[in-house]
Amino acid sequence: MKIIDTIKDLRLLLDESRAAGKSVGLVPTMGALHAGHASLVERAVKENDVVVVSVFVNPTQFNDKNDLKNYPRTLDADCALLERIGATVAFAPSVEEMYPEEDTRQFSFAPLDTVMEGACRPGHFNGVAQIVSKLFYAVEPDRAYFGEKDFQQLAIIREMVRQLGMELEIVGCPIVREEDGLAMSSRNTLLSEDERERALTISSTLFASADFAKVNTLAATKAFVEDMINDTPGLELEYYQIVDGNTLQEIGEWSDSDYVVGCIALFCGNVRLIDNIKYKG
Ligand code: PAF
Repeated sequence: MKIIDTIKDLRLLLDESRAAGKSVGLVPTMGALHAGHASLVERAVKENDVVVVSVFVNPTQFNDKNDLKNYPRTLDADCALLERIGATVAFAPSVEEMYPEEDTRQFSFAPLDTVMEGACRPGHFNGVAQIVSKLFYAVEPDRAYFGEKDFQQLAIIREMVRQLGMELEIVGCPIVREEDGLAMSSRNTLLSEDERERALTISSTLFASADFAKVNTLAATKAFVEDMINDTPGLELEYYQIVDGNTLQEIGEWSDSDYVVGCIALFCGNVRLIDNIKYKG
């Protein structure tokens, strides 16, 4: 596996691969890789001749300076994992390489980006679109892989590709969970033992809500989740919304959509976690 840190060197290598008729897959990450990322890379390796994994903590998508400062960075371990699972290139550029000048582009994905993460983290999706579009321009992948844990991000990236008329396939991959149910996240490493224990309430509540939803209204299901989280000391709910999986807008009745997803964001101590569950579709 090659470790590359400039767009120029990356393009040189990929131009050669493409000239040889090879397909290219891209897995964008911010590093601190875990089994969830590994599942994306493994799928990319199966479906493409060449697989680029970008490892870049993108400053423009953080609306909170402390969050950016504390974000885990583990490049050596990341590269060792990527090598083991067969990635071709780890692309680990500097901030100056990706942003030689300020990126002043303003994207709008309304109404997808006005709700949930978009409402709670102003500018977050603009930053995601800035970096992901730069990566797509640099790599020109045939396919790019994203996890469904970031459900709203996935919908927004599909919309960005549509708006920019890019010709690549966006592949959404299922959430990977720890054995006890906690959705894998690079931020889990920031949890203390006690917080890690409390965080289990998130997945157990979402799973229980799927059973509850079978015989209860949408409003009752929403309240069920909100109450369980609010009743757990150490968890601070930011939102729980039951939305149409395509428009990401809240719905009022189960019959309002054939594709229904519940999306949650909360603080466990100082660590912000998200998760989601599909009720329908
Ligand atoms: O999902 C992430 O880790 C990031 O938002 C992404 C897509 C790598 C862009 O920085």
